[in-house]
Order: sequence, then C-alpha cells, then structure tokens
Amino acid sequence: MPSLVTGRLPVRLTPLVGRQRELQDVVDSLSGTRLLTLTGPGGIGKTRLALTAAGAVSACYPGGVCWVDLAPLDDPGIVAEVIARRLGVPDSPGQDAAAAIADHVGDWSMLIVLDNCEHLAYAVADLAEQLLGACPALSILATSREVLGVDGERSWPVPPLSLPDAGAPAAAAALAESDAVRFFEHRVQLVLPSFRLADDNAAAVVQVCRRLDGLPLAIELAAAQMRVLTVGQLAERLDDMFTVLVGGARTAPRRHQALRATLDWSHDLLDEDERVVFRRLAVFCGGFVLTAAEQVAAGCGIGPQRVLELLVRLADKSLLRVDRGGSDARYQLLSIVREYALERLAEASEEKTARGALLWWAVGLVEEVAPRLEGGRAGVLGLERELDRLDAEMSNLRVALEFARGSGEVDAALRIAGPLGRFAYLRGHYHEIRQWMDDAVVAGTGAPAVLRAKALLGSGRLALLQCDYLPAVRRVEAALRQYRELGDARGVASALQVLGSVAREQGRYARAMLLHGESLSVAEAADDQWAVASAHGYLGFACWLQAEFERATQECTIALRMFRELGDVEGIAWSLLSLGTVARYQGAREQAAALLQESRSLAERIGFREGIAWSLEQLGLLAADQGDRSAAALLRNSLQIHHDLRDRWRTCSVLEDLAATALEQGGAHQAARLLAAAEAMRVTIGTVIAPCESAQHTVTVTGARAALGDEAFAAAWQQGLQATIDDLQADLAGQAAARPDRPAAHRGSPRRPAAAAAKQEPGPSAAPGGALRIRALGAATVHRGDAAVTAADWGYAKPRELLFLLVASPPMTKDQLGDALWPDLSGQRLGNALHTALRTLRHALGDPGWIVYSDGRYRFNTEQEHECDLETFEQALAAARAARPAAAALPHLQRAVTAYRGDFLAGLAVGEWARARRDELARSFESALLAVGRLHAAADRYQPAAAAFRRAVAHEPLNETAHRELMNSWVHLGETARAVRHYRELAELLQEQVGVPPAAETTALYRRLTGGP
Ligand SMILES: Nc1ncnc2c1ncn2[C@@H]1O[C@H](COP(=O)(O)OP(=O)(O)OP(=O)(O)O)[C@@H](O)[C@H]1O
Ligand SMILES: [Mg+2]
Repeated sequence: MPSLVTGRLPVRLTPLVGRQRELQDVVDSLSGTRLLTLTGPGGIGKTRLALTAAGAVSACYPGGVCWVDLAPLDDPGIVAEVIARRLGVPDSPGQDAAAAIADHVGDWSMLIVLDNCEHLAYAVADLAEQLLGACPALSILATSREVLGVDGERSWPVPPLSLPDAGAPAAAAALAESDAVRFFEHRVQLVLPSFRLADDNAAAVVQVCRRLDGLPLAIELAAAQMRVLTVGQLAERLDDMFTVLVGGARTAPRRHQALRATLDWSHDLLDEDERVVFRRLAVFCGGFVLTAAEQVAAGCGIGPQRVLELLVRLADKSLLRVDRGGSDARYQLLSIVREYALERLAEASEEKTARGALLWWAVGLVEEVAPRLEGGRAGVLGLERELDRLDAEMSNLRVALEFARGSGEVDAALRIAGPLGRFAYLRGHYHEIRQWMDDAVVAGTGAPAVLRAKALLGSGRLALLQCDYLPAVRRVEAALRQYRELGDARGVASALQVLGSVAREQGRYARAMLLHGESLSVAEAADDQWAVASAHGYLGFACWLQAEFERATQECTIALRMFRELGDVEGIAWSLLSLGTVARYQGAREQAAALLQESRSLAERIGFREGIAWSLEQLGLLAADQGDRSAAALLRNSLQIHHDLRDRWRTCSVLEDLAATALEQGGAHQAARLLAAAEAMRVTIGTVIAPCESAQHTVTVTGARAALGDEAFAAAWQQGLQATIDDLQADLAGQAAARPDRPAAHRGSPRRPAAAAAKQEPGPSAAPGGALRIRALGAATVHRGDAAVTAADWGYAKPRELLFLLVASPPMTKDQLGDALWPDLSGQRLGNALHTALRTLRHALGDPGWIVYSDGRYRFNTEQEHECDLETFEQALAAARAARPAAAALPHLQRAVTAYRGDFLAGLAVGEWARARRDELARSFESALLAVGRLHAAADRYQPAAAAFRRAVAHEPLNETAHRELMNSWVHLGETARAVRHYRELAELLQEQVGVPPAAETTALYRRLTGGP
C-alpha cells in the first residue's frame, strides 16, 4: 500500500553518537501518546533525536512519516499551509489549510514531525489540537524549546549528553562510557582525523565537556576549533565561551553557527518580565531554590510573589532546569545559558544590584541555618536537612563572599563565613571555609569583636582539623582573648576546647587535660549544658588516647547522657565512638561493635565525614582483632576519608593500622612502607603516636623488621618515606586484589643496614666510623665522619629520638627514658622497647661505645670524639653567664647565637620531653639575641644592635621588647621614619594576631617620634 508521504526524512552526514537509552524511551513514548514534544534548550539535540526516532518508527506508520522544519518560518499564519504543502495535500481554493490536511490524512496511521516549534508555539498548538481531534490515527512528534501546551501533550525533556562520573579517573578507557566525550572525539576527528582520546589528553577533554555541560552544539563548535588549537588550549580558552564557540558548519542553521546566536533566538522569544528575571537569576551559581529567587530576582517592578510564575515560564522555555530530587525543587541555568544571561545583566547595568541582593540573601540564609546546627536543636533529620541546605548553597555562598570582598562589605563577609564552622566541620569543608574565615578576618579588622571572634575561632578549629597547629593556636588564642573581653562563656569554653585539642594531637596530654578541665569549669559556671557535655567528651577522648580507660569511660558516659538529653547528634556519635573504642581496648568486643555501629550509622545519616572515618577505623581494628578479612577494606575507606579531609593526624594512625593488618597477612614489606609513610607525616605535622596505639606500633615495627631482615626493612622504609598517600592507596588496593608472597628478602639472613655494614667492626673505646657530628638545633642530622646516618639506618623513629634525648639530658635511668619515650609501657614491655631501640641506635652509630650504661643510668659518651651544636650552645651560654664584666659575655653570646640554627629537632615528631626542651632553648636563644643587641647598643654600635634585634623579632614576632629595642636602634641610626613605620606594622600585627594594641611603653616611644601628645 502506498503511503501518504512522498518526501524522505532529512539525511545527516554524521552518525548519531550515543543516546541509545533516550532513543528507546522516545520510541516507547510515541506508542503511548499521540503528541510528544521533545523539549530542551537550543543545541541540546532535540532535532537530532527526533530525526533518529522518526526513522526508527517509520515502519509502524503505514501512512508514512512527514518531516516539517518550522525553523525558517516566522509567520504563524502560514504554518498549516507549509505542512499541507509538505504532505502534498492538493490545493483546494477557499478551503482552510488545516481542514484540508485533516481530510487528506483521514484515518491513515501516520506521524508528522514538527521540528523547531518554539517561535510558533501558539499556532502549532492550535493546529495540533485540530488535527489530532479530526484524525484518529495521526501522531505528532514536535521539537521545541518550549512546551506547546496542548491537552494530552506529553513533554519529553532531552538531557545533555552524559558526562563522566565526577570521581572517574581521567583515563581514556574510563571515559568511553560518556556520550559527551565520545561525541567530542568524533567531532574532532572530522577536522583532525588523527585525533584520538588518550590518557594524556583525557583530562582536558573531560574539562571541555564538563565546561560545556554536555551540550552537543557547544561541543560541536568547540571541536571545530581543534583545527587550530590543542585540546589543552581549548580548555583554557573556554572562559570566554561566546568568542570561542563560533564557526559552525556553513550548512548548519544560522542560529547554530555560533552559540550566542542560539541563545539570542531563545532570548528574543521572552517577554520583558521574563527577561528581567532571567538575567537576574544569572548571579546564582550552582542553582537556587524558589525563596532565594524571590529575594534576588524580584525588583524592576516585579514583586516577589510573581517570581514563581516567571520561573515556571522560563522552565517551560527550557532556559531553566528544574531538579525535584531534594526536599525543595532547585532551579538551574545551564552554565552556557547562565553566561549569556550574565552578559544581558551587565548590559542592563543591574549587576551590582542583583549581586547585592544575593549577598544579603546569603547573610540571611547563614544566620537562619547556622544556629540550628548548634547545641542539638535540630535532631537527626533536621540536622541532615540543614546541612544539606548549606551544602547545596556552597557555590552561591562563594559568589556572595566574592562580591562582599569586592564591594567592601566586610561585616557581611564575617556574618557569612564566621558562623559556618560547625557546618564546615561536619561536612568536611575544612580547607575552603577556613580560607573564607581568614579572608573575612583580615578584611574586617574594624568589624565588631563578636563577629571577628567567631571567625577566628572557626578558622582555628579548622586549622586544627588539618593539623596546622601553629596557625590554629594563633587564631584561637586571639578569639579566646576577645571572648573573654566580651564575657562570652560559650566562646571561651569552645576556644579552650580547641586549644586543648591541639595539645592533645601534639601528644601534650597533661596540657590538654588542663585546658579541657578549664573549659569544663567555664561551662559549668555559665550553666551551659552543651559546653559541659562537650568538655566531658573531650576529657574522655584525651583519657583514652593516654590509655586511661576507666576515666575515659566515666567522662564519655556523662557526655553521652547529656548529649542524648540535648539531642545533639554529633555529640552522641562522638561519645559512642569513644565508648566503643574503650570497649575494644578492654576486649569487650560485642559491646564495642554495637557502640561503634551506632556511631557509624548516626554519622552516616548526617553526612558527618570525620565521624564516619573514625568509626570505620575503629570497626576495622575490631575486625582485625577478630581476624576478620573485612578489616583492611574498612581501614582503607577510613584512610580515604581522612586523607580527603587532610586530617593528617588520623591519616598517620590509619596507615599504622593498615601496616599491622598487612603484616598479619604476610605483607611485611608493605607494612614497613606504611609505617615509614606515617612516620614521615608525623614528622611533618609534629605529632606523636598516642599511648593507646604505641604498643601495637612497636609490635608492628619489630615484626616487620624481623620478617624482612634489616636490609630489606631499611629499603622498604626508605620507599615509604618517599611514597605519597595516592601511591600507598594504589598499592593497598592492588594488594587487596591479590596478596603476594612475602618478599624474598625475608628469606635471606638479616643483614646490617648498608651504611653500617660498610664500616669496620666496632670497638668499645674508639669511634671507628670517625667522629660523630650531631646537629640538634634546626633540622636534625647525625654524621659519622662524612657519612650521614640516614632514615634507613635508624630504621624507625625511636632510636633517633633516644639519641637526641641522651644528648640533651644528664644520665638517665631506664624508667626516666621510659617516661619520656614510652609513657604507656612498663615492666617487660618497656624493657623490650628500650632494648630494641638501643640495639638499633648502637647499630646505626656503628659503635656500641657511644651509649654507655653505668651506675644504673644510660648516657651519651661525650669522651669520644664528637661535635654537637646543642652542647656548644649551652656551654657558650654558661660561659656568657659567668663572664665579668658584662661586656665580656659578647663573644660567648655570639657563639651561642651562631650555634642556634633553628628550633631544637625542628620538624621531627618527638615526645613531650623534646617539646618542653624546644621551648626552653628557643627562649634562651631569644634572650641571647636581646643581650647581644643590648651589649652592642650600650657601646653605641647600633648597626649590629639592630641586626640582633631584627633576628629576635624574626624568631618571635610577638616579642614586643625586641620590637621596641629595634625601633630605638633605628632612631639612633637616624632612621626615624623606619621606626615609625615599624610601630604601625607592629600595631597591625598585634591587632591581627592577638587583638591587642602595643604596650604603653612602645606607644609612648612612637608618640615621642611622631611628636604626638
Ligand atoms: N547524539 C548526537 N549525535 C550526533 N550529533 C548530535 C547528537 N546530538 C546533537 N548532535 C548535533 O548537535 C547539533 C545540535 O543538535 P540539534 O540541532 O539536534 O539541537 P536542537 O536541540 O534541535 O537545537 P535547536 O533548539 O536550536 O533546534 C547538531 O549539529 C546535531 O547534529
Ligand atoms: Mg532543533
């Protein structure tokens, strides 16, 4: 039977790429509806999909498939005639064209495709209604940027081409699934046949496709630029999208020859009110909810109550995408559309107003949501919802802050950034929000103290979480001072908690307990139940890290009860975690499992990443205790989260946990690498192994060394020191897939480390490797003759620390050494640990005679030929103290100053003993510098005096005496202006870092210099 249609479907010279699922869905939809409209923004691929679908179903329509391109038409009055002509309807003068089509089609089963209807939507809607009513077997497939609005119409929004998953590796093989990437590759090959997606260009290709939101037209235009650009250059240039994305095929419709033209076509179809809202919405980034749009897009005579209606209209016209996935619908402009709208906004000179409106919306949002995150008011569901709300608005907050910065709205910036601390903590946005807070504090020096204090505390807390301890302390101490002045007990208690946490992570447990205790007293005095509960929680935490399990249980039980009463989910999760961990250490496995599981599920429900990582670690350890093979996987997940959060303190511990599991499964080599990597990280951040973890650590180190032999252990250790976490993770994942045999080295006889083996046999009274040169001030090094003693020689950290302890102390008993190096061990275990460390140390030094044991004490043998900067420093200071007259001290002081190249054992992860010593030595150095400066000044030698004071200031920027002496020296050198400038810089520094003005004495000097009152 002949069909009604004589014309063929338009032919495309390039194949359809991807879209198989979409095609199937469109074909299925066509069988269930008689009017199907493919909608979507310009260039999304509506026409292309309709064409392929029409070809696929043509056999189902005996009357045929008729394709009508309406894009070239601009008169709605002739739509019916054009279709009639396309259908070959015979001319019948005086008859209405629509009626003629209906007569012609009659009962035939046929499909009419009306392509690009948006600009004629009303006329097409009328005609479609008429024809579908008159012809029972007729179906219509339309493509349009806007739905037609006919009864029974089914709209089918065409999605962008699929993009690679956010976390997918940028490797060619992993990207083949993405339609956008395949489309890009295909289109580039049209202009550059040799182009192939490969590992070395994959990242740039993904960047391009993402930047273009998977929009086929944009990708096509971008690919055409590859005639003259590399893909890397293309990725870089896409910031100026509308300039780059031009030059489409000459055969393409005009609106597709440049991206701007495509969007102009849509924009021209908007009415004035739609245009206003459309351009103002461009200030949002990453989507927005209705209430935000009402606040930001209203204006120019459009009231907030009209915004919803206009949003719906823009969504109908495919300029807005609506995502109904969350609790509130979210609207979004495709990024290309957004950029176009931004141009329109600038053209209308409304940028500042719209961005200002966004800023105040952001302030309102944070001030509404942040208090709900505090103190357990929200409950699990509420907390999750509020956190999600802020998470969804991160991009908008970022834009608001940028505007605040650029327009000098410093208070607004503090009001946005300051209260976000708990959100940042719970959702793991440590890095970025910390930066927001710091920027806001620096810009807002004149802002109200209460705003500044919050941001300082928040930033300090985030710095702590990233193990940047020094910046953490600076900020929190400044916040503490301000909270004290403000009489804000909650602020004081919280600041003390953070300071206590820094001390805890650095292994200064006594100080941590003191600070947490002080925080408790403040909270109790203010009757602040949440702060009281937190303080108990922190005290318990510090206790179990020190292996004081009984007290830990008491404290955490109180915390848990109080947090449950308050309904504070995070607090409950923490307390459960602590109690579960303690139960695990005490061998109560079932109880531990129950507590830890509950903690994990609470943390997961609110998306509390740090909490999840902790519970995974403890559950992993529990599994390991039970010989369960899931242990390594749990620990690997924990590692991933801690690493993502940049919580290096925990990352070290989890690496060590993984080392223990690796060793148990025969992976001694891997264990050594993991231990060394953890050690390197501990050195970087300055933290120690917690007493509760150190027994296991010793067992793992000893076990790995015994399994591998010294030489292989040292080699693995060396590799671990160099390894990145990514290397280790890849290794762990590979090992999980197939655990190899033990390395061959294990089967060989244990040998001495290479450096030691190269030396002659040791003798008790000689220094056979040559003189020992020990540097303990600044970066620590030890040399035997010309050869450095390396990490491979030390094997692990304790032997090296033992050497420095002995060098820096009078002779010590075994118990004294134990207190300093293994505070959690006693009896046999301490004996073993000391024995192992001593043996390794003597081995590393190549001569057992360096460490002498007599009269029940160990000491470093100073009788052998050696040189030690610490000794030089201390002897020089003693000589200076003894010198008479006072001026005779100068050469001794200068010798001391020269010997001090930096802080004691700078950068090494060492115990409390060394930190105390470090502080003490730093203070001696500071005093020595001041004394040198003063002796020079007393002899009218102001140049060297100024040099000494400057060094003192560089060493300790908050030493105001040194600053004042420096100003005095400059005055004597005739550089009054420099002294005045220095005062101002000092005042700024003090304000910024500690929130106080210079001392009266310094200010008096300044006034004298400036001739002020
Ligand atoms: N899956 C695909 N495979 C191959 N080419 C595609 C695909 N999708 C889109 N294209 C190409 O991308 C360009 C834009 O697609 P198309 O013309 O279908 O967009 P549209 O949504 O109809 O745009 P407009 O609203 O402007 O009509 C065209 O050159 C088209 O051939
Ligand atoms: Mg089209």
